[in-house]
Amino acid sequence: MYRDIFEEEMARGSVFKDQSKLSPDYVPGELVHREEEFRELIRLFRSVLEDRASQRVLITGSVGVGKTALTLRFGEEFESVAKKKGLDLTYVHINCRKQGTPPMVLHKLTSNLPLGVPRRGFTPQELMERVVDYLKKRDAYLTVTLDELDYFVRQNGPDLLYSLTRTAEESGGPSRLSMIATAHSSNFLDRVDDATKSTFMHNSIDLDKYNAEQLADILKQRMKVAFKSGMVEEGTIELISDISARRGDARFALELLWFAGRIASQGEVEEVSPNHVRKAKSKIHPGIRREVLGDLSKHELLFLLGLSRRLKISDGAYSVTGDVEEAYKVVCEEYGEEPRTHTQFWKYIGRIENLGLIDTELAGEGYRGRSQRISISDAPPDMMEDEIEELLDNLYKK
Ligand SMILES: Nc1ncnc2c1ncn2[C@@H]1O[C@H](COP(=O)(O)OP(=O)(O)OP(=O)(O)O)[C@@H](O)[C@H]1O
Ligand SMILES: [Mg+2]
Repeated sequence: MYRDIFEEEMARGSVFKDQSKLSPDYVPGELVHREEEFRELIRLFRSVLEDRASQRVLITGSVGVGKTALTLRFGEEFESVAKKKGLDLTYVHINCRKQGTPPMVLHKLTSNLPLGVPRRGFTPQELMERVVDYLKKRDAYLTVTLDELDYFVRQNGPDLLYSLTRTAEESGGPSRLSMIATAHSSNFLDRVDDATKSTFMHNSIDLDKYNAEQLADILKQRMKVAFKSGMVEEGTIELISDISARRGDARFALELLWFAGRIASQGEVEEVSPNHVRKAKSKIHPGIRREVLGDLSKHELLFLLGLSRRLKISDGAYSVTGDVEEAYKVVCEEYGEEPRTHTQFWKYIGRIENLGLIDTELAGEGYRGRSQRISISDAPPDMMEDEIEELLDNLYKK
């Protein structure tokens, strides 16, 4: 019997040619509708190639507008053009949300440079001085993207950014370190020193949200490489781009296409139709950012699960911290975990708010001192609950 089932499953067709082309980590060789911004970056960075100057540029834009994709593609191209011009230039891309602390960012920044010194035990300032010395000796240049710098500065303050900019400037000769920062908005610059703020403000590129037509073009480009030909119905792309246009978020659009494709592959394989998209839409929500949830610790997930459940049963959009902490403790018991302390609980709230997953506001003085109202920023609590339960199940399986 199992042999039959096996053969039946293996013989089943698939709508996909290559699913990996739809994964969030995949960056297409060519970005659709970002040529103007790519040109703008070249204009801003040509002085690095021609005059050996340094540059600092800020790229802003909401979720899924291509900040990461654009900087990665630019950096790759920039490095290779520089090499052709005989310039020893290295591009480093750092996700500052993932490399969440100053030592981690510095480690990533220096990991490919043979500095010849142990990296531990140096202050950021000292380590940066080594980097600058190294670049000077080698007559080399470094361009680094600090991706999601807004999150990092809210979490860690501006000191690291200050060290990075200052060491370069104080080294005497020309600055060999150029920087691209990405952020959802320029608000985080209020926390950095005036000089750095003003440089970034003068060299900034804002990526607009994609409209429905642009999203359709992005989807079609991906459809060609991810699906077998003729397996996606015409109306499918149109529906996905209409649904996603309000946010202008290409990641959500691509996720919907992928999910719709997977639904179409179940049972009798059919062409991916608008109906599959509607089903996919009921299962995924743009506010549930899997790449962000995936980086949370076990207790942060338990906290969010408690909050989701609490919000599900209460009518309001908000719940007060005391109630959420109770819900967190119940969840801990269910998963056989010892709840973390009250102080730690407040730290989770701070970090998860910085990640943009929850909103808090002051609710006045409670019996334990401060009390806040908390809500999930952008997703229905029941969908958040499902998502986190799945993540936790996977964690406990390991
Ligand atoms: N112009 C484009 N052409 C093709 N694919 C694109 C384009 N813009 C974005 N994408 C794809 O959409 C997804 C989201 O893009 P990206 O990760 O660059 O967004 P982001 O602005 O960095 O979002 P976040 O703020 O969440 O970091 C990626 O899979 C990316 O490859
Ligand atoms: Mg990004």
